[in-house]
Amino acid sequence: MLVSSKIQAAFQKCINPDCGAEFDCGKSLFKCPQCGELLDTQYNWDKIPVPDKLNKFAKRWANRDKPLDFSGVWRFREMLDFCPDKYKVTIGEGQTILQRNDAVAKYVDMKTGCLYLQYEGLNPSGSFKDNGMAAAFSHAMMVGAKSCACASTGNTSASVALYAHSCGLKCTVFIGSGRIAFGKLSQAMDYGAQTIQINGDFDDCMRRVQEVCSKLKLYLLNSLNPFRLEGQKTIMYRIIESLGWEVPDWIIVPGGNLGNSSAFGKAFHELKQLGLINRIPRMAIINATGADTLTDLVNGKKLTWNGGRVEQKIIDDYYAELTARNFSPHTCASAIEIARPVNLKKCLRAIDICDGVVLAVTDEEICDAKAIIGKYGLGCEPASAATIAGLRHLRAESIIAADDRVACVLTGHPLKDPNITVNYHKDKLGQFSNPLIEAPNELDEIIKLIK
Ligand code: F0G
Repeated sequence: MLVSSKIQAAFQKCINPDCGAEFDCGKSLFKCPQCGELLDTQYNWDKIPVPDKLNKFAKRWANRDKPLDFSGVWRFREMLDFCPDKYKVTIGEGQTILQRNDAVAKYVDMKTGCLYLQYEGLNPSGSFKDNGMAAAFSHAMMVGAKSCACASTGNTSASVALYAHSCGLKCTVFIGSGRIAFGKLSQAMDYGAQTIQINGDFDDCMRRVQEVCSKLKLYLLNSLNPFRLEGQKTIMYRIIESLGWEVPDWIIVPGGNLGNSSAFGKAFHELKQLGLINRIPRMAIINATGADTLTDLVNGKKLTWNGGRVEQKIIDDYYAELTARNFSPHTCASAIEIARPVNLKKCLRAIDICDGVVLAVTDEEICDAKAIIGKYGLGCEPASAATIAGLRHLRAESIIAADDRVACVLTGHPLKDPNITVNYHKDKLGQFSNPLIEAPNELDEIIKLIK
C-alpha cells in the first residue's frame, strides 16, 4: 500500500529514483512491489526527537536495568525509529569494542595509534549480524510474523536461529552444500533452526529463500530486509562513539552480500544530514579474489551509483557471463563466498557517499592477515581478516596514509571457523604458521622442546 510519507516518522522507499514508491513500515515487502528494486527505510527527521549531540546516546549505556538502553543497537534508537518500543527485541547485542592495535598497525605499515579494530565477534551469536537481527526481528514482531527464513553462508543463520527462538518464531535456514564453516553450522542446529542444505552455493540459496518466503509468506531476514540494515548502522555509531565522537578517516569492511557497506554509507549520510558529524569517512570494501563481483564491476566495468540510475545492462551482462561459464565463487573466507550480492546497488550508493574504493585480496593474504590479528588482536574469522589484507594493499599504494585514522570492522569471532585456523598452523600454510609440536610422553624430552 502506498502511503503519504509526510505524516509518518518512518516509511519504506524504493531506491530507484524513477520509481520512488513509498510504503508503510507495517508491511514486509523486501523489494519494491512496483519496480522490483531494493527498499530503504527513510525518516522524516523533524518528527523524531534526535538528540542534538551524539554523546547523549552514550549516557544510556549505563542503564543496565533498561535492556533497550543497554543494547548497542537500541540506545541509538532515534536513528532507527521505525517501530514502537513494545516490539523492540534485544538479547544484549552490540556490546562490542573498538580496539586500538599498534602491532597490527605495524604489519600494515601504519603509524602507532592510527589503526583500530572494531571487534564484532563479541555479539551474542559471535558476529555483526546480531546488530541487524535486533532491528529486523523487532520489525517481524511489529508485523506479527510467526515464521521466518534466511539464506546464509553461516553467520546469518546462526544469528537468525538465536533471535528466532528468543522471539518464539519458527525458523528455517538455507545453506549451500559444503559451503559453511562448522562453528556456524553447529549454532544453527543447536539454536533449533530447521536447517536445509541445498545442493548449490549461497547465490542459489538466496534465490530459493526468496521464492519460498513469497510462496509460504515467511518473514525474510537476509539483508534485502531494509530494517536489518538499520540495525547494522549502529556499528558505525559505536566506532565514532569510541573515538570520542570523532569520525575516522577510513572505514574498512569485508564485502559479501554488501549489507554492511550499504548500511554504513547510509549511517554516515544521515548523521551528516542531521549535522551530527561534519565530515564523512572514506570507505574501502574488500572482496576475496574468488568472489570479486563488486571489484570487477566497479574497477573493471566502471559501474557507479549514477544518482540511482545504475546501468543495469552492465550488471545483467556480467551475471549472464557468470551463468554461461557455470561460475560458482570459491574462497576460504566462506562468509563472503558470494557472486551475486543482493545489495549491490545500495553499496554503489555507499561508495558514492563515502568516496569509496574496492579491491580484492587472495586467500593467502587473508590467512596471513588472520594469523596476525589472532596473534596480536582478539582474533577473527577469515572474512574479517580481508580488511587487514586489503589495508596492506591500500597502504602499499599510498591510497591510505600511514597517519590516517583507520577503523577495520572485524565481523566475526575466530571460533566460527576453526578448521581454517588449525590447518593454517598445523600444515604450515603461511609465513605466520604456529604449528603443533609433537612430543613423547617423557619429561626430559618435553623440557628440551620448550624454548
Ligand atoms: N563477514 C562475515 C563474518 C560475514 O558473515 C559476512 C556475511 C560478511 C563479512 C559480509 O557482509 O554481506 O554485509 O557484505 N555473511 C552473510 C551470511 C552473507 O549469510 O552469514 P555483507
